[in-house]
Amino acid sequence: MNIAILASGNGSNFEAIVKALKRGYIKASIKVLITDKKNAFVRKRAQKNKIKDVFVDSKRFKSRSEFDNEIIRILKKEKIDLVVLAGFMRILSESFVKTFRDRILNIHPALLPAFRGESSIKRALEYGCKVTGVTVHFIDEKVDNGPVILQVAIKIKKGETLASLEKKMHALEHKLYPLAVKLFCEKRLKIKNRHVEIK
Ligand code: GRF
Repeated sequence: MNIAILASGNGSNFEAIVKALKRGYIKASIKVLITDKKNAFVRKRAQKNKIKDVFVDSKRFKSRSEFDNEIIRILKKEKIDLVVLAGFMRILSESFVKTFRDRILNIHPALLPAFRGESSIKRALEYGCKVTGVTVHFIDEKVDNGPVILQVAIKIKKGETLASLEKKMHALEHKLYPLAVKLFCEKRLKIKNRHVEIK
């Protein structure tokens, strides 16, 4: 199974997946990291782990679909079976989703369909939620919308700060995302009528 990871930022989820591969928890190969941010810290993580790292500069392209086509070209060249979005801050075009249908995973720091979009942890805290959580899901044409694979809740305790909640959320993400990738690589995820069955 050939994996590509798309990320724009820190890359702690990238690192968690790399570690899971290294210890044999996931049996697959990460062929490439693709990023749209020249100075993203995730690039340093890729270089340290000797994973090919490609920066695709959106300024070189006239439209979103041309940018996406460049990414599709790289993914095809690397014979990618699974695309893992790990904090990739761009919305993928319909043709991208079509090309890799049911083969793109995303992690979202909320219990979807609640708090779609950005700053989800902060918004859940500010709303006064008693519970939030992490969702790993397949991507479809709409933002933060595809079939849910795994979802785990976290209690928001009295006096919780954004920093303390973020810490817990990230620790949970670093367990949940490698598990979802593992399940995919072992072909244990089946989508039926938009619902994911885990075998
Ligand atoms: C994570 O919180 C993830 O849920 C969201 O983007 C963040 C990426 O963090 N989609 P990192 O770059 O993996 O540290």
